[in-house]
Amino acid sequence: MQPFRGCSVHAIMCGIVGYIGKRQAYPVLVKGLHRLEYRGYDSAGVALINPSGRLNVYKSQGKVSDLEDTAQNQDLTGCIGIAHTRWATHGEPGYKNAHPHLSESGRLAIVHNGIIENYAALREMLIGQGRTFKSDTDTEVVVQLIEHLQEQDHLSFPQSVQKALQMVHGSYAVAVLDKQQPDTIVAARKGSPLVVGVGDDELFLGSDASPIIEYTNRVIYLEDEDMVILHMPGQDCASGRAEQAVAQIMLMTIRGERKTPQIQRVSMDVSQLEKGGYDHFMLKEICEQPQSLRSCLQSVKQTLSGTDAERIFSLLQSANRVLITACGTSWHAGLVAKYAIEQMVRVSVDVDYASELRYRQPVINNGDIVIAISQSGETADTLAAIDMAKKQGARVLSICNVIGSSIPRASDEVIYTMVGPEIGVASTKAFTAQVTVLTMLALVWGHRRNTLDDEHYTYLMQELDSLPDKIAQVLDHKEAVRQMAQTLSFASSCLYIGRSYNYPVALEGALKLKEISYIHAEGYPAAEMKHGPIALISQEMPVVTVATSSDIYDKLVSNIQEIRARQGRVMAVVNEGDTEVERLADVFVEVPRVAECLSPIVNIVPLQLLSYYVACLKGCDVDQPRNLAKSVTVE
Ligand code: F6R
Repeated sequence: MQPFRGCSVHAIMCGIVGYIGKRQAYPVLVKGLHRLEYRGYDSAGVALINPSGRLNVYKSQGKVSDLEDTAQNQDLTGCIGIAHTRWATHGEPGYKNAHPHLSESGRLAIVHNGIIENYAALREMLIGQGRTFKSDTDTEVVVQLIEHLQEQDHLSFPQSVQKALQMVHGSYAVAVLDKQQPDTIVAARKGSPLVVGVGDDELFLGSDASPIIEYTNRVIYLEDEDMVILHMPGQDCASGRAEQAVAQIMLMTIRGERKTPQIQRVSMDVSQLEKGGYDHFMLKEICEQPQSLRSCLQSVKQTLSGTDAERIFSLLQSANRVLITACGTSWHAGLVAKYAIEQMVRVSVDVDYASELRYRQPVINNGDIVIAISQSGETADTLAAIDMAKKQGARVLSICNVIGSSIPRASDEVIYTMVGPEIGVASTKAFTAQVTVLTMLALVWGHRRNTLDDEHYTYLMQELDSLPDKIAQVLDHKEAVRQMAQTLSFASSCLYIGRSYNYPVALEGALKLKEISYIHAEGYPAAEMKHGPIALISQEMPVVTVATSSDIYDKLVSNIQEIRARQGRVMAVVNEGDTEVERLADVFVEVPRVAECLSPIVNIVPLQLLSYYVACLKGCDVDQPRNLAKSVTVE
C-alpha cells in the first residue's frame, strides 16, 4: 500500500449525483448538487453525454453556483449525466482537481467520493503503460485504469469498471460514464454512501436520497462492494428516443455475484430541503425545533414502548458500563447523556471522542455497551470506533438522524431522532433531538431498573412533553439575543461557561460561535475558571454564562461574581424571574424554567441564535462556513 504524498488530492467527503432517463439531465444534476452541497463546496462539476454522443464536462472551483455561471451558454443538452461537489483534503481545491475526471482518450468520465489508498502504485503502473495524468487526484487513476482495462483486456464498460474496482484499495462511491454507451451509468460503493433512485423510466444516483426525493421515493441503498449498472436500453440520446426507454437495474458485487435489488420507500418531505422563506437553513432549523422536537418525542416514545424497546433494553440491561462515542456537537450531546444516565440509571458512563477512542487502547469488555451518536450516520471516526468496539466484544446502540445510513447499519440497535434533514452545516435541531432521545432513554431505563421512582419518572416525562412549547417561548426572545449579538460581534475571543448539565451546553455554544462566525470561543465548566482561564478576563473578553436554576446555582453566581470583580463582561442565559444573575449580567436573555436535567435542550436555543446573529452581523456564510462540510466521512 502506498502512502499519500502531500501533493496528492483526494475527494473524500463530496457529493455525487447521477441521472439517466427521459428528462434533460443538467437541471436534475445541478439541483441535486445544491442539495448535497453540505458535503463540500470547494469545487463542482458535471459530465453530460449530448444527443450527438459528445461527452461535455464543465467544472468550476468554488460552489455549485460558480459551476452554473461557468456552464451558462454551454451545450447542456443530454439525458444522461453525472455530477460532483467536492471537499478537498490534500492539495488545492482548484479547477484541475475538480471532478468529473476524464480518461486519457476522453471516452470515460468519473465522479468519486472516497480515497484510493493504492493510487500511487496504480498511477506508476499506468504511467509505465504510457498514460499521462492531468490532475493530482487518486480519482483520475481509477478512470485511467478502467480505460486501460478496456483497451488491454478488451473488456466491456461494466466489466472494466468491475475489474478496476477489484484492483483498488480504499473507499469509494463512484459513478462512471462511457460515451460509447450513452444508455448506461455504472456505479459502485465501498465505504462511502450511494443511493439509487428508481423512477418511472428514469434512474437517479445520489450520495443520499435528498437529490432524488422529489422525483421518486423508491430507493436502493447500495451495500459495500455493490456495483450497479443503470441501463436504459430504449434510450438513445443520440437520436432523441428517450421517451421509449425502460429502466433496468442490474445489481451485483464487484466480484460479479448477482444480487436482487431491495427497493425501499423513503419518506422525506421536499419542503424540508428548502429554506421555506428563511434567509438560511440554520435559522430555519433553529426555528423549527418546536416541531422537530415534537416529531422526535413521538417517535422515541414509540420506540421505547414498542417491540423495539424489549430488544433495546435487553441489550442495555446487561451493561456494566456505557461508553458513549461521537464527534463534535454529537459528542456534546453525549456529555449531557453521561450526566443523565449516571443520575437516573446509576451505571457508569465514559464519553470519548470517536477519533480518540479508535486509536487509543481502551478497556472494552464483553457486556460493555457503546452508544454511538451521529446526525449524519456517516462520520468516519464514529463508524471506525463502532467497528473497533464491536471487535472487542461491545454491543452498540446508535442514536442517529439519517435513516439507513452507515452507523445504524453497523449497530446492533438504533433509535432515530426523526427531525428530518439537517442541512445547515452547524448542527442545531439534531443536538436538541439527540439530547431528548438520550434523556428519555435514561428515564425509561432508570424507571425499569428502579433507580428512578414513579413520581420523578412521571414528572420528568411530562416535563419532556412541555419542551416544544418552551422552545417556542425562547424563540419569542429573538430580539434580546440579537442585541447580545451586537456586542459579541466585536469580540475576537470569548468564553462560555456553565456547570453540571449546562457545562456541555457551554461547549456547544462555543462550538456554534467559532464554526460560523470565526470568533475564537472556549467552553469551560464555570468553577474551572480560577484554575487558569480567569487570567484572560478583561473588558475585551466577553463571558457567555449559562446560569439557569440548578442544584448549584449559588455556586455559579459566585463564579460570575469573580468574573465581574475582574471587569469581565457577562452575557447570561437566565430563567424567567431570575434576579441575582440578571443584576450581575451586562446583558441577558430569559428562558422558561424546566427541570435541570432537561435544561440543556432549552438553554442551547438562545446560544444557537446568538451564533447565528453574530455570523450574520459579520457577513459570514452561515450555511456553508469556510473549511467545513456537514458529513465528515474522512478521519
Ligand atoms: C457542529 C457539527 C459537527 C458534527 C460532527 C459530527 O455544528 O455539526 O461538529 O456534530 O461532525 O457529525 P455527526 O453527528 O453527523 O456524526
